[in-house]
Amino acid sequence: MKIKILKDYNELSYTVADIVEEQIKREPISRFILPTGSTPHGLYKELVSRELDWGAVMTYNLDVYIMNPNHSQSYQTFMKENLFNKINIYPTNCQFPDRNVQSYEQRLKGIPADLCILGIGTNGHIAFNEPGSSFDSETRVVDLNEQTIEDNSRFFDSVDDVPKQAITMGLKTIMKSKKIVLIANGVHKYKILNVAMNGGITEKVPASILQKHNNVEVFYCD
Ligand code: GLP
Repeated sequence: MKIKILKDYNELSYTVADIVEEQIKREPISRFILPTGSTPHGLYKELVSRELDWGAVMTYNLDVYIMNPNHSQSYQTFMKENLFNKINIYPTNCQFPDRNVQSYEQRLKGIPADLCILGIGTNGHIAFNEPGSSFDSETRVVDLNEQTIEDNSRFFDSVDDVPKQAITMGLKTIMKSKKIVLIANGVHKYKILNVAMNGGITEKVPASILQKHNNVEVFYCD
């Protein structure tokens, strides 16, 4: 699978913003699956600056930590601060997984998302589908693995403050999206990205499932 190598983080951000903009302009009633993490920061900043009409857009976040949604490091707070509070989207159109996992799954089952944007963890996870997750998985509560807790501790005062559990969209659910864009930034991501896109398709590397999707674009910058 081809990994498109972009010049820098700016190019990564505006390339994906172009895809989002084109989708919203083509179909104002669009459904997006959105990521958190450090990689999409630039994308969200770029989207805010474009002043698009989000009035009929529905968004579904990939995952949340099991923690107070008002905490400064919750994914709900991240999305509000970086995107939702800065665009004209209806708060009720911004959905996050919650403990009622069946309900979240149903909302996504009826109509597939037009576009799903993903980051990738250094262990090959997408959303919080850790290595070993079933390719048939749906929205569920998961335990985070050691590597993920370690990687995400940079956002918290100490590694002990990182939540140990999350609610994540499943791999099967992600794969139902009409189009998927995977973004990765930094040399520390290149090895796993290459294994996931060009190695064997295995549940040991959750992102490798994307090789089975017929409309995926993968963007990387150093
Ligand atoms: C986090 C999130 C993922 C994200 C990944 C990469 O744990 N659950 O959805 O894609 O890790 O994050 P970052 O962009 O900060 O490297």
